[in-house]
Amino acid sequence: MPVQFFDITRQNKEVRAEIDKTISEVVTSGRFILGGKVEAFEKQLAAYCGAKHSVGVASGTDAIHLALLACGIKPGDEVITSPFTFMATAETIVYCGAKPVFVDIDPQTFNLDVSKIEEKLSGKTKAILPVHLYGLSCEMDKIMALAKKHNLKVIEDCAQAMGAKYQDKYVGNWGDAGGFSFFPTTNLGCFGDGGAITTNSQATAEEIKVLRNHGSRKTYHYDIIGYNSRLDALQAAILSVKLPKIEEYLDKRTQNASIYFTLLKDSSEISLPYTPAQARHTYNQFTIRLKKRNELFGFLKEKNIGSMVYYPLALHLQKALEPLGYKKGDFPATEAAQAEVLSLPIYPELTPQEIEEVASTIKEFFKK
Ligand SMILES: Cc1ncc(COP(=O)(O)O)c(C=O)c1O
Repeated sequence: MPVQFFDITRQNKEVRAEIDKTISEVVTSGRFILGGKVEAFEKQLAAYCGAKHSVGVASGTDAIHLALLACGIKPGDEVITSPFTFMATAETIVYCGAKPVFVDIDPQTFNLDVSKIEEKLSGKTKAILPVHLYGLSCEMDKIMALAKKHNLKVIEDCAQAMGAKYQDKYVGNWGDAGGFSFFPTTNLGCFGDGGAITTNSQATAEEIKVLRNHGSRKTYHYDIIGYNSRLDALQAAILSVKLPKIEEYLDKRTQNASIYFTLLKDSSEISLPYTPAQARHTYNQFTIRLKKRNELFGFLKEKNIGSMVYYPLALHLQKALEPLGYKKGDFPATEAAQAEVLSLPIYPELTPQEIEEVASTIKEFFKK
């Protein structure tokens, strides 16, 4: 039986009637840029995360970029982050004229190894940008303590981790700001690109509202150079239908993960995802690691089972970031992970039979 890595059409089918209705309302209203639908979704998102404010923007990339700017990141500053993440994390630091300073990951969680942050701080360090990779929160208590000690801002990359928690507090609500993505494969996906920032600072929220709208506080009056980065009213309307179902979606991801755990627990050749006691993993990805990663990827493909490698080349080894001066060997835990990780299908609407098919095909591979 073929198993697709991801299929958004199943989720969309379940909410189709509500989505058609809300899209129709937007079309009838003629209000496509900002307005009531965007404001309503921003309130909903802030309430869900427990943050005081939320601002919708055009993508997760823009969410991180504008959050960095609003937190005062300037040319010449250094920002600590992970090399084992999507390009947008580091790219946005570069957009600000600042320098990404990488810290290796914890091989169990794939998130920043907090014990290695302090040795990378310099007089230029202004912020930490932790990434809640695969939907698992970083150790935010330790990161916040370090930030307080060294007077650093914290901008969380929550793109993959809507709904993740650390010590019962949602991601996006720990640092000075959190950037979310609504790319269709995320825990809360829209019908294209979309993003949002959460923050507990009114000043930060207001600054981001100015930045997303060409630097304008008053129509056709520009105080600063800004951007065109607004969350579309249509996307906000769709997200407002889906957000009340997020816990249901996350429960399904967790149930799917527990089926994998049961079926794969005795496969000694692979390591299954690890969740620290204080964290809630949202399983945006179910990422295993194994020595024969490329061989298993090929075998699954032959059997029509989708799997993905997030990420095959860490950021410190990317051509675009060569000017940072990193080289192979700089981050051993990251480099081991890039050779061994494999993400299996985990999306909420996957059936138990499909998960069994994936697991039995993996076992077949090891029996060969
Ligand atoms: C960790 C991480 N950060 C940032 C982003 C950027 O989000 P977007 O694609 O919405 O710009 C992504 C998107 O996949 C991501 O995975």
